[in-house]
Amino acid sequence: MIEIRNLYKSFDGNDVLRGIDLTIADGETVAIIGQSGCGKSVLLKHIIGLLRPDRGAVVVDGINMAEAKEKDIYRVRRNIGFLFQGSALFDSMTVLENVTLGLRENGERDKEKLARITLEKLALVGLRGIEKVMPADLSGGMRKRVALARSLATEPRYMFYDEPTTGLDPVTSDQIDALIEDLTAKLHVTSIIVTHDMFTVERIAKRVVFLHQGKVYFDGRPEDLTRSNDPINRQFLERYRLLA
Ligand SMILES: Nc1ncnc2c1ncn2[C@@H]1O[C@H](COP(=O)(O)OP(=O)(O)OP(=O)(O)O)[C@@H](O)[C@H]1O
Ligand SMILES: [Mg+2]
Repeated sequence: MIEIRNLYKSFDGNDVLRGIDLTIADGETVAIIGQSGCGKSVLLKHIIGLLRPDRGAVVVDGINMAEAKEKDIYRVRRNIGFLFQGSALFDSMTVLENVTLGLRENGERDKEKLARITLEKLALVGLRGIEKVMPADLSGGMRKRVALARSLATEPRYMFYDEPTTGLDPVTSDQIDALIEDLTAKLHVTSIIVTHDMFTVERIAKRVVFLHQGKVYFDGRPEDLTRSNDPINRQFLERYRLLA
């Protein structure tokens, strides 16, 4: 379970998060939306302990990430798979080395096991026969899938996706959406998806959180957001429907 209470974060006078309250129960699939620069990635980085709050609490599985020791932050982070904005694959490593990075960091050395897990996770994202390929030789959609396989390799209980379809063409975006939908159903993990794409929201999430001016402006069902007459909700939706 993730509990965020009264979270504040500024960077050099830029007040990005201004009192975020948000609780996410185990097994939920939640989409986070909001205009570019509103703090969606900053919020995710607090939940994985990459950023520390100025004020407030971020509690993951009972550990307050705001004041936790490095060792406890690391323990929490091992349960979280993170698909970064951009695929962030290491270009100097093969697909196999990329996929097994987290496992190797956790001390796994058994080559056969690493190879087996790689095949298994690549199959989960619809890829095979590319273990030895270098990321530069893959398409954008395939890189995304490899990054996804990598974040699944450690069998996380939480999956965070930061703009999983940005920069992909519509057909590939659709495939990645379908894959995430499939994975959320299959893996019984708690998922947070940051996106600009309302189609992604409606397809995958049962709950959507709209950040506006550093706060949670809407928190509810996607269909209630799309039906909302609130002018700020409407303005956001109209803008991003056009962009979608
Ligand atoms: N480490 C940092 N140092 C200084 N400013 C930062 C840092 N990280 C984020 N910011 C600022 O915080 C604000 C929110 O950034 P964030 O990346 O969370 O936006 P976002 O909602 O994810 O946007 P996008 O949809 O474009 O990804 C931006 O103004 C950004 O410049
Ligand atoms: Mg972002």
